[in-house]
Amino acid sequence: MDSIIMETAAPETAISEIAWTHVGSIDDIPVLGSRVVRTAQGDIALFRTAADEIFALEDSCPHKNGPLSQGIVHGRRVTCPLHGWVIELATGEAVAPDEGRTGHVPVRVEGRGVSLALGEAKLSRGGCRKACGHV
Ligand code: FES
Repeated sequence: MDSIIMETAAPETAISEIAWTHVGSIDDIPVLGSRVVRTAQGDIALFRTAADEIFALEDSCPHKNGPLSQGIVHGRRVTCPLHGWVIELATGEAVAPDEGRTGHVPVRVEGRGVSLALGEAKLSRGGCRKACGHV
């Protein structure tokens, strides 16, 4: 699985009270692959689906912290490379029968640019607070 690591820049845009941090182009993320963004909150894995949807999850499986960025993307899910748990990219929830959640970060794609609302994320087993509507 391809994975690229990049550092984040300081938040640059505030729209509707949400600070978005530009993290690169959709073209930096392989189709059905991932890219890791290092942030002050920890490593965030960006995933790109076959339909060019972009999702951002904490790069840590809710099972035993496996690197989800090294997993296999299929549909809107990723399979952890360590023990095969399947995680929903939109929510970070483990697919039953497994239980647990990894944090996820709201993503905005404008043109080919990808931004994250890092301030809206609740990482370490939480969910975002409002930007994507998921609690
Ligand atoms: S650490 Fe991901 S399935 Fe075990």
